[in-house]
Amino acid sequence: MALINENYLKLQGSYLFAEIAKRVASFKNENPNANIIRLGIGDVTKPLAPAIIEELHNAVDEMASAETFRGYGPEQGYKFLIQKIIDMDYNPLGVSLEDDEVFISDGSKSDVGNFQEIFQTANTVAITDPVYPVYLDTNVMAGRTGYYKADGHFDNVVYMECNAENQFKPDLPKEKVDLIYLCVPNNPTGTALTRTDLKKWVDYAKENQAIILYDAAYEAYIQEEDIPHSIYEIEGAKDVAVEFRSFSKSAGFTGTRCAFTVVPKSVMAFTQDGKTYPLNALWNRRQTTKFNGVPYIIQRGAAAVYSPEGQKQIRDIIAYYMANAKIITEGLQSIGLQVFGGVNAPYIWLKTPNGMDSWSFFDKLLSETHIVGTPGAGFGPSGEGYFRLTAFGNRESTEEAIVRIKTKLII
Ligand code: MLT
Repeated sequence: MALINENYLKLQGSYLFAEIAKRVASFKNENPNANIIRLGIGDVTKPLAPAIIEELHNAVDEMASAETFRGYGPEQGYKFLIQKIIDMDYNPLGVSLEDDEVFISDGSKSDVGNFQEIFQTANTVAITDPVYPVYLDTNVMAGRTGYYKADGHFDNVVYMECNAENQFKPDLPKEKVDLIYLCVPNNPTGTALTRTDLKKWVDYAKENQAIILYDAAYEAYIQEEDIPHSIYEIEGAKDVAVEFRSFSKSAGFTGTRCAFTVVPKSVMAFTQDGKTYPLNALWNRRQTTKFNGVPYIIQRGAAAVYSPEGQKQIRDIIAYYMANAKIITEGLQSIGLQVFGGVNAPYIWLKTPNGMDSWSFFDKLLSETHIVGTPGAGFGPSGEGYFRLTAFGNRESTEEAIVRIKTKLII
């Protein structure tokens, strides 16, 4: 008799963005002529930059000839990409890394979801509330949590509430935790943490022999000086933190798939009898067993991000999305809505008007303006009463969305 992993049965409903897609499809079915503007899932709309496309073409051509054809590549990624990441993303920050401390992957969602596998289920996990659902759901699947409770939380998880009162910055847990998920700049609230904020977390992790799983997928959107681009800018972080980065939002690879995870060899966790063990070796073992690497062609495309033209082109695209963020922020503020985020992140986090619950606001926005956003409650109970809009739309539809909100939304 094949038994299932019953932890899956503890999960609530469907994955957030699958639920939104289902609701939008049903609305579209009933309103086939509605011109829907999608500012829900954080998917990019700009095509890949020309420098990336050119390099993808070159790499495709190499696959057509026996001399340059590539089969299996290194599971950890090609050195030509890893070295560029180290030289251009980390060395300028004063962070040195060895090439076997960077693992190329097909996405931060999969890496951040898979990484928990190398920890014992008895570990206590701390997440923010609201939170990117992958951190929580993958720990539920692994059996690291208890059951879902009436208050919208799972047992045996430490939730760090983020709200307007604490400027959406999590406070240190009062209890001892082992694994801490931080997303900076934050999805969904758009909040970023300063050096001083982050130092507290690194110190906490050191004191408590905890590990920080630091999701920096939106790092390229940081605009302000005092926001670190990597957790390794903070002294001591190389002993306690794993960093996840992605080309999805920085260079439009949401469909092309390429990301990387940094696991310094100095990050140690413990065996039951107290011996230290490097996470780098465990992650390498996991990846070489379960993953065959990102396609060569895609890694060549990602490497082109670091060429002078690639850098300029992706910076222009990021500036374009951040101009959308400004349009959304100012448009919402002009009708009296309270707005957060949108400064160091492509997400705008707004307080729903008149204390409306966030799924009701989702339905109202969709039916009155034909705009899709993401209800804050989908990210956790503390997201209730909030709503997320993304700046990843094209300029026309972003402007049109604001016109519709100003003229059609009844508040
Ligand atoms: C989001 O909308 O939160 C993101 O697109 C999800 C993701 O990157 O997986």
